[in-house]
Amino acid sequence: MELRELISGAGDEHALWARTINPQFVRVLRTIGFDRKWASAHGAHLYDADGNRYLDMLGGFGMYNVGRNNPRIRAALIEALELDTPGMLAMGVTALPGMLAEALLERTPPRLERCLFTSSGTEAVEAALKLGRAATKRARVVSTDHGFHGLTLGSLSANGNPEFTARFQPLLPGFSHVPFGDLDALERELRTEDVAIFIVEPIQGKGVNLPPAGYLEGAQELCRRYGTLFCVDEVQTGFGRTGTMFAFEHWGLEPDLVPVAKSLSGGYVPVGALLMSRAVHEAVFDSMSNALSHGSTFAPNELAMAAGLATLRELEEQQLVERSARLGERLLEQTLPLVDEFDVVRDVRGLGLMWAIEFEGDSRMYRLLERAQRGLFAQLVVVPLFSDHRILTQVAGHDMAVVKVLPPLMVADEDVDEFVAALRATIARARRMPTSLTKFALSAAGIGR
Ligand SMILES: Cc1ncc(COP(=O)(O)O)c(C=O)c1O
Repeated sequence: MELRELISGAGDEHALWARTINPQFVRVLRTIGFDRKWASAHGAHLYDADGNRYLDMLGGFGMYNVGRNNPRIRAALIEALELDTPGMLAMGVTALPGMLAEALLERTPPRLERCLFTSSGTEAVEAALKLGRAATKRARVVSTDHGFHGLTLGSLSANGNPEFTARFQPLLPGFSHVPFGDLDALERELRTEDVAIFIVEPIQGKGVNLPPAGYLEGAQELCRRYGTLFCVDEVQTGFGRTGTMFAFEHWGLEPDLVPVAKSLSGGYVPVGALLMSRAVHEAVFDSMSNALSHGSTFAPNELAMAAGLATLRELEEQQLVERSARLGERLLEQTLPLVDEFDVVRDVRGLGLMWAIEFEGDSRMYRLLERAQRGLFAQLVVVPLFSDHRILTQVAGHDMAVVKVLPPLMVADEDVDEFVAALRATIARARRMPTSLTKFALSAAGIGR
């Protein structure tokens, strides 16, 4: 099979997707002008078919911490293919999964002693919910408003965003939500001692909400007091994103359950894992007849294991975790002044290279935009950042005027500076709200309606 020829003969990929995969998504891309023909990518840059270079500040929703097409990860994968390893034996084991499990557990607190591999983040969360409920013999799960843990049914039941959940009711029974940051509300749920798991992102991805001081430590303490498992979802925040290998290190947490995924893939091979305490594992996998109580065909996949091992090595050899901390500080330092510079900038926040800017305004035009769709002003920033400055970013969630970035951790200082200069110019322009842009935004607000 000549893949290069096949691809070049495939015709218009947007039309192909619209015909076969998701016409509404293609409509969205066309409306906001993101429908480029993409040709290649290296590190923190994407190239379109006309040879234009784009700075990727979105990192595939956080799966490219080591950069796109990282040559060392690729070499490891080629080597793994050339080794003709036995692959997945189903009834048998090989070394690579054990090696990656050990490498992950060595980098986390001693409380975490077992690793269950999956092929995605949501599957790792599903495993936490299923095993955690069985281990505690409790049925209830508590999560947070605006929390995001994936889109399969169990993870979706823990999702605190009505725009994802409303149309898929009824979800699983026994799930409750509490405001992120509110320890009293959490205690009211936990003190009935029937809650199996409290699941929380250390920094919420939807909106990039940082926890108030003492919140996560307090939540862990409450979980211990009432016999609830403390599950810290590191799918997005793991592997250096926030300037430490795992975000829970910032608060010295020792969770019972930690789902990871995204960047463990090296940007190449889907992989996730649930890291858990020995107590949880042994409560479920408690006999030979229960040895296969949970798992899936593709996990652990040998190529995914090779990608994971190469990713951990890359993060350390290239000092990407430290780099994330340093560049995150640079980004924050350069963008915090925007709050005073522009009346529409309400807040700038972040930790490591997980960063966001929030807008707010009371001009007539701003209110008109908000009435059309909450958070619409953020599109007036994301769209020109892309079309005028060739920088890829995203709106951080539905109904919120927040623009978010999750760049590859190997971005350069100059990339950060370029982003800040483009952001400043874009906000200045969006604030003046030229009529054409406003019209565009109002028509974009009709997307999906
Ligand atoms: C915190 C968090 N948990 C879970 C998931 C789900 O991961 P996946 O998309 O691999 O299923 C995501 C995805 O964005 C996430 O951000």
